[in-house]
Amino acid sequence: MKKHSGDTDKDLSPIRFVKGTLKLLDQRLLPAEEHWLTLDSVDQVARAITDLVVRGAPAIGITAAFGAVIAARRRGDDFSAWRADLEQLNQSRPTAVNLAWATERMLRVAKAHGRLDSDALETEARAIHAEDIAANRAMAQSGSALLETGSGILTHCNTGALATGGIGTALGVIVAGHRAGRVARIFADETRPWLQGSRLTAWELARQDIPFKVVIEGSAAALMASGQVQWVVTGADRIAANGDVANKIGTCSLAVIARHYGVRFMVVAPSSTVDPHMSSGEGIAIEQRDPSEIWRAAGLEQAPAGFDAWNPVFDITPADLVDFIVTENGVHRPPYDFAS
Ligand code: MRU
Repeated sequence: MKKHSGDTDKDLSPIRFVKGTLKLLDQRLLPAEEHWLTLDSVDQVARAITDLVVRGAPAIGITAAFGAVIAARRRGDDFSAWRADLEQLNQSRPTAVNLAWATERMLRVAKAHGRLDSDALETEARAIHAEDIAANRAMAQSGSALLETGSGILTHCNTGALATGGIGTALGVIVAGHRAGRVARIFADETRPWLQGSRLTAWELARQDIPFKVVIEGSAAALMASGQVQWVVTGADRIAANGDVANKIGTCSLAVIARHYGVRFMVVAPSSTVDPHMSSGEGIAIEQRDPSEIWRAAGLEQAPAGFDAWNPVFDITPADLVDFIVTENGVHRPPYDFAS
């Protein structure tokens, strides 16, 4: 594995916009290969989001914003065709609200200029990216301040630089806590079926020379019973007004087990992940992906006859199992109210 000492969030950033084209680090190939794709059409950008070339709620929002810039350059004056492009970007994945949040911001800029001003749109996309970097830093500071010295942490999926514009959400808190000397042990769930934990979180932590252990999801209760973790820290794809949290499948199980063992549960997400119009988690669309992802992850070429799979890739953690929600605006505690 290539080691980089003194990494900045910029070194790890998987999204670059250079001379009107979007460059994405293909996360499907990590950690085996660091391969960049160059995209210059909305179809390509939407497909890259759907196919998980880029993933993680804030990262796909930023990607969609740059997709809207590419679309504007191609559409010229055709506003309604551009709006259809925005809708295509919104539809590329259903659960994370960051997509619609980002395209809505792009739409507002276009309306304010009365036309598809691609320079103004590029400025807005870059602002969305820069704001996420700043939000990540603020969350890392306030989230890590909650951790006591000697904390053991279990995290789920990948919520680091690869999933965001900056140093990450939950992983940003964990890394900041580690640097401040408060984190004694880090456990990363492998996160089936795409293995965002054992491929991506492990890759990010190793690049930063931070010690960790990968665990399988099924070990969560044993891990918490062993006393090695005091915190579960995760990101979110959408947070409803009442504090219900949509995040990677398996998150809710961790919250249930954490409550049983007296382990605290912290969710870290920028305000772009909060959906004030969604009153509770019940209304959040949960993405279902192709069942073949499950047997492919197990290394099988195809399913045996009659084998099917249920493959929702997110779940809803009820607000009453969440002890803290950290955004760039500070630390929120129950009862949550993000309606305004
Ligand atoms: O399917 P993914 O890899 O896009 O899912 C990502 C997650 O569930 C993350 O926890 C979430 O997006 C927060 S990332 C900062």
